[in-house]
Amino acid sequence: MRVQYFGHSVFTIEQGSFKGIIDPFIEGNPLCDATVDDFKDVTHLFITHGHGDHIGDAVALAQKSGALIVANFEIITYLESKGLSGHAMHIGGKHAFDFGTVKMTPALHGSGIFEEGTMQDGGLAGGFLFDIDGVKIYHAGDTGLTMEMQLLEEEEIDLALLPIGGNFTMDADDALRAVRMIKPKAVIPMHYGTFEVLDSSPDSFYKGLEGVRGIHLAPGEVYEA
Ligand code: NI
Ligand code: MN
Repeated sequence: MRVQYFGHSVFTIEQGSFKGIIDPFIEGNPLCDATVDDFKDVTHLFITHGHGDHIGDAVALAQKSGALIVANFEIITYLESKGLSGHAMHIGGKHAFDFGTVKMTPALHGSGIFEEGTMQDGGLAGGFLFDIDGVKIYHAGDTGLTMEMQLLEEEEIDLALLPIGGNFTMDADDALRAVRMIKPKAVIPMHYGTFEVLDSSPDSFYKGLEGVRGIHLAPGEVYEA
């Protein structure tokens, strides 16, 4: 399974004919050199919450590719008002897609959608737990440290994608506490170094990992899960 990072919280997951992109913040993303046109054959778009650095270029990507958008009910309703179609889910819900199952996980964060000077209701922020051919990948979205993460230990997660940049989400210290609760086999830090207010270096996070494999991906790099 091919997992590619594009900076901030943007990942693609590819397995066979499935190509999912999570939180497609591409054009405005200072860490991402790729453009929307570089993403070919996307089959599914996953959006963790309504903030602009996560919805990103979802509309353009969906229009171009015809990919199915998966997000909470409020975000799907918002995107349907723009003529797109999606699959609505919500926190705690699991659904079997043709490529595998997806469960929406809780996140401690907002989800407002800012458009034309006003904030629209984007429901609750979440994350996604993927089970694709027996490989479990958890994308936490934006979240503070929360006790809900204890529930993920039983999932026996292969790869966790966790925000570490602080200010809006967990910093490296809290992300290490999250790792101790989740106990994934491997972890890739995200949501750092994009903006001045976010921590720029993941070094202290890697140093603090005990018995869990820390994987460093520069934007554009690939990990085989
Ligand atoms: Ni956010
Ligand atoms: Mn964010």
